[in-house]
Amino acid sequence: METQRQPKNRLEEIKKLLLKYSYEYHVLDSPSVSDAVYDSLFGELKKIEQEYPNLVTYDSPTQKVGNVPLDSFSKVNHSSRMLSLDDVFSFDEVLSWHSRIEKLSAKVINDFFVDVKMDGLACALVYQDGILTQAITRGDGFVGEDVTMNVRTIKNVPLKLYSASKEVDYLLKGRTEVRGEIIMLKKDFDALNVQQAKQSKPLYANPRNLASGTIRQLDPKLVASRPLVFKGYDLLRMDSQEVLSNSDAYKKLKNIGIAINSQAKHCASLNEVKKFVEHWEQKRHDLPFFTDGIVIKVNDKKTFKELGIVGKQPRGAVAYKYPAEQATTIVKDIVMSIGRTGVATPVAVFYPVIVAGSRVQHASLHNADEIERLDIRIGDTVVIFKAGEIIPQVESVVKELRPKNAKKFDFEQALKHQYPELEFERQGDDAAYRMKGASSEIILKRSLAYFASKPALDIDTLGDKNVEALVDAGLVSDLADIFRLKKEDLSKLDRFADISSTKLIEAIGNKKSPSLDRFILALGIRHIGVQTSKDLADNFQSIVDLSEASIDDLEKIDGIGKIVAESIFAWFSDEDNIKLLDKFESLGVRPVYASKHGNLNGEIFVVSGTLDTLSRDEAHSLIEANGGSFQAQITKETTYLLVGSKPSQSKLVKANNLAVRIIDEKTFLDMIK
Ligand code: IVH
Repeated sequence: METQRQPKNRLEEIKKLLLKYSYEYHVLDSPSVSDAVYDSLFGELKKIEQEYPNLVTYDSPTQKVGNVPLDSFSKVNHSSRMLSLDDVFSFDEVLSWHSRIEKLSAKVINDFFVDVKMDGLACALVYQDGILTQAITRGDGFVGEDVTMNVRTIKNVPLKLYSASKEVDYLLKGRTEVRGEIIMLKKDFDALNVQQAKQSKPLYANPRNLASGTIRQLDPKLVASRPLVFKGYDLLRMDSQEVLSNSDAYKKLKNIGIAINSQAKHCASLNEVKKFVEHWEQKRHDLPFFTDGIVIKVNDKKTFKELGIVGKQPRGAVAYKYPAEQATTIVKDIVMSIGRTGVATPVAVFYPVIVAGSRVQHASLHNADEIERLDIRIGDTVVIFKAGEIIPQVESVVKELRPKNAKKFDFEQALKHQYPELEFERQGDDAAYRMKGASSEIILKRSLAYFASKPALDIDTLGDKNVEALVDAGLVSDLADIFRLKKEDLSKLDRFADISSTKLIEAIGNKKSPSLDRFILALGIRHIGVQTSKDLADNFQSIVDLSEASIDDLEKIDGIGKIVAESIFAWFSDEDNIKLLDKFESLGVRPVYASKHGNLNGEIFVVSGTLDTLSRDEAHSLIEANGGSFQAQITKETTYLLVGSKPSQSKLVKANNLAVRIIDEKTFLDMIK
């Protein structure tokens, strides 16, 4: 028998439960049910509401999605001024702030509250009897804009406050104001930019601008489509039930269903504050959002208030700012890199500058549209942005500093100048210029065949036909992938019988320490032939040093002119190529510079068995350091088999057959003395 339920009761129960689930998910970070359960109950609620529209309330979770667009935002007075913070840049400044406020208040202050400072926009949420009635931007601190419609779409902003404990019940009555920051998480920001790039639309500069631009949109539907997050940092009551401390405020925020940073904490001494500041300076890039510093507050609200305000800033708190992740520099040049898919990517060349602790001398400008959007010209002063491991980007151009003679950049002309032998085209609304008549598959086949060819890595049996088969089967999608191949992969292909797959895998495995000059040649950088590869290897002696060379450094080498230098620089600036080099490294492919002075110059070793004093890795490094190279398997090129105890019998036999000299560890050590 079907259970008949009062729709109104059922609806109330579901709403209550959804509020709890949402609290667990957004505030506690520990959902007790799966998304599917939430969605299913949400669906049921929607259905009941469709059937009984008079039961729809303003705080129903179904009412989060965007409403009708607005014409403009109305202005609203803040209940109390929304302040900003004074910045400090060193712990010494924190100490002087502390002694200042101790003197002013004439008491000992050793009770602090610290939180990571989020890079977003400040917002005040007003709850009347537990229901969200208004959301106001900071504005000038006195008057802000009513962005309620938009803030209602933010997933973790509760339309109705939760009550996780009796102590907070009173906050669900009367007027409760929550202040906090609206931010966009790094992962959501990156995903939106990937979408933009796919649609050939300009990229967003940073999460803060995107978050604040989004909140100022008049169409709530658009806002709902951009994932924003709200984090609370203050709780205000205008009555006698005021919150006593910041730690109390954070605890209560959490208990009424407002998300807070789990990093925030109470500190009982300045030393603890210092530890917090130092800890997050190291770890800040692991946070899911951008932070540029730490907020340090006097914990006790009464003391905080007594300390008063100077200008727009309360004396009772400071923002400790970490070193900038932005810097300005001048664009020396814009060069073109041809990526592995045949797309021409413009790269801005800078006068080197330190950003977030590392030296930056180039950044991808992505495509012609991005150059247009930034309106970037050679000679311009630009703002570069870099956060942690993230590849540096040009954020904007400082137009005021543009030299009079700065010319608009001509994309097509630059391509012609740098790659006169190639033809490019741009189709429809594709932002990219691509090499004419060459699909990325054709280019991959060509470059892989070149990579394996005699003058390059000289990989036996990896000729055109095999390259073709591997690419067609989807087994390799870049040059490094061949080092991942296993026998089982090949056995699925018609071309490879048991013996030929073993041979190919062995041949590839033997090229894991190619000589540096061959490796450089094999990368297929335009305008780089055998001689230039040798010159580059002799000059830089490692891929890392070569990849960090400036155009000037390269031009200093005999026989390398501007065009060649630009081509090399552009290749090493290309994000795909940077990733490719990382991939080689992680697959154990390490080119070796055969020092002309090493005793083992030109010798090729295979090591087998356990050595007395050296680990396998140490032996390999010693071989390389003395100008030799090593292989995993014996081939006709091998010159020495270095054996320890329990060597492989098959290797001994093979060495004998191929007249490879067999030596022990002592002889080896003598050779390099
Ligand atoms: S507490 C009196 N805590 O930074 C203002 N603010 O420069 C007390 N902010 O206006 C603010 N993260 O918009 C506080 N964890 C945090 C914050 C934070 C970001 C913003 C906030 C404030 C500005 C101060």
